[in-house]
Amino acid sequence: MSQLTKYVKDQIWIYDYPIRFASMDLFARMTIIKLDDEALMIHSPCEISDLLKDEIDAIGDVKYIVAPGSYHHLFVTSFQLKYPNAETFLCPGLERKRPDIKFDWILGNQPDHRWSNVLDQVVVQGTKYIWEVAFFHRPSKTLILVDLLENIGDNYKHPTDRLLRFWWKVVFKMWDNPKAAPEYQMGWGRKDIVKNGLNKILSWNAQRVILAHGELIESNVTNILRSAWRKVLGT
Ligand SMILES: [Fe+2]
Repeated sequence: MSQLTKYVKDQIWIYDYPIRFASMDLFARMTIIKLDDEALMIHSPCEISDLLKDEIDAIGDVKYIVAPGSYHHLFVTSFQLKYPNAETFLCPGLERKRPDIKFDWILGNQPDHRWSNVLDQVVVQGTKYIWEVAFFHRPSKTLILVDLLENIGDNYKHPTDRLLRFWWKVVFKMWDNPKAAPEYQMGWGRKDIVKNGLNKILSWNAQRVILAHGELIESNVTNILRSAWRKVLGT
């Protein structure tokens, strides 16, 4: 049985995987993007099995491994071991948080020339506890985030543990109410700087969102983003 889910025909695949974080069992999502030259970008990697590797190898060549956020670095080395010639790109700050991870590049506000004809990107920084690099897949108008938007509620297909339900429902009021991850909400920090990044994302006019935790969003994207980020945008 196929493990990867085709999301955009011949261009984007996704894969949900369980993780344990802050004493909670939850799911995260890896995204695989095929670039013009058949190279694959692995975005927010999972722990890779031989079975999954076979499936990935059937769709293209893994050339780029991307850790796009402060908390999405756990399985970079798992992919590096399977693909020693791939280049690794880190979200700014991870080079200090995870000095043990070997990397080639730090992601910036300009997309790398090897993917700039397909993807745009922006670093969302200025927040206190968590940064990430947002990507936009132009051909399919897909915004690719990790933690800037989480969408978990009654219709979520994966089981959610009691602790997560408590935090999402009672503390952060984000059950069936997409918001940025708690680490954002606990410290938006320099909102003027954060706002620059968020406005760049909004300027892309995405039609759908791949996010790391929760159901994908495929309609009403701009309104959902504006609502989720209203404490920064001031709208
Ligand atoms: Fe996350």
